[in-house]
Amino acid sequence: MEKEFIVGATGTTATVDALGAAGIADHPFFGPLDRRPAHHRGPHRLSHHGWLNFAGRLERREEVASVLTAVATGDRVLDVGGGTGELTRAVAARAVHCVTVEPHAHRVEALQTSVDTSGGAPDAPGAPDGAEIEVLPGYAEELPLPDAAFDAVLACWVLPYADDPDRAVRELARVCDRDTPGSRVVLIGGAPDNELVSLLNEVCVPIAGEPHDHQGYLLENAARTLSELGFSAISLHRTEAALHFPESDPEERITAAAALLTDFWYEEHPRADEMRVALRPALRRHFARRPYAIGDQGIVLVAVCGSRN
Ligand SMILES: C[S@@+](CC[C@H](N)C(=O)[O-])C[C@H]1O[C@@H](n2cnc3c(N)ncnc32)[C@H](O)[C@@H]1O
Repeated sequence: MEKEFIVGATGTTATVDALGAAGIADHPFFGPLDRRPAHHRGPHRLSHHGWLNFAGRLERREEVASVLTAVATGDRVLDVGGGTGELTRAVAARAVHCVTVEPHAHRVEALQTSVDTSGGAPDAPGAPDGAEIEVLPGYAEELPLPDAAFDAVLACWVLPYADDPDRAVRELARVCDRDTPGSRVVLIGGAPDNELVSLLNEVCVPIAGEPHDHQGYLLENAARTLSELGFSAISLHRTEAALHFPESDPEERITAAAALLTDFWYEEHPRADEMRVALRPALRRHFARRPYAIGDQGIVLVAVCGSRN
């Protein structure tokens, strides 16, 4: 079967076979290409408080719309690593059957509560009643679900937190119904120019003494694995999202952003206070260019089985 690899915001199309492994590796959306690591750096630890603070400031309408478009053809949807459920509720509104698997006990509880109080329907007024959401505790690397049970399997901003991203991707593929053309795995990771990741890499990661975060490395490996597993069309789209800091006083804004960035990955780190201080000059420079926001630009990877896009 000919494999199709659709690349770039311009919709440039080429075949995987023609591009080969080097073609996938060289795609700029999997960058920054000059900083690709030799191996996985290991998982980030997402703090619960850090995530809630982050989610409270995040505006990602474009990203949510991209995910909804990507899963529009699927009746049976799985959202792996559902977090606090914003995306889960949005996709459930259009699905017949929706399951989310989430390992973090507090987030499972929050998801369950939001499902119990809303019945799974989204918060938006006038939104249609969709599927009830089934919330399951579990990990992407070992999904508590049967083979081929879903038309669409999502894992949005999840791979950087998995202990074994390759095993996770293989599990996403296992539960996706690969015999039905059009079934798909949808991933989101950071774009090469993601401002949040750049600030963390510039300031916090060296203080922690860790290897740089490289979101493109995870997406590139996922694309290769999914291609090998029979997902014959892989498309990439860049999306804009941003954390908003409306504080009018610039120093207050810097304090809020320094706390948010540090707490996101390093809340429990013994050098977290040092990170908050070290972030201030980098944030001053950042806000001089973009006064009230830090970009969280993403790449949406859609891997489709068979010929139906
Ligand atoms: C950055 S949040 C993203 C949440 C949600 N997907 C969204 O986009 O709003 C990452 C989520 O992945 C979950 N997670 C971490 N490790 C995981 C794993 N191994 N398997 C599945 N989910 C995981 C975290 O608990 C967290 O809820």
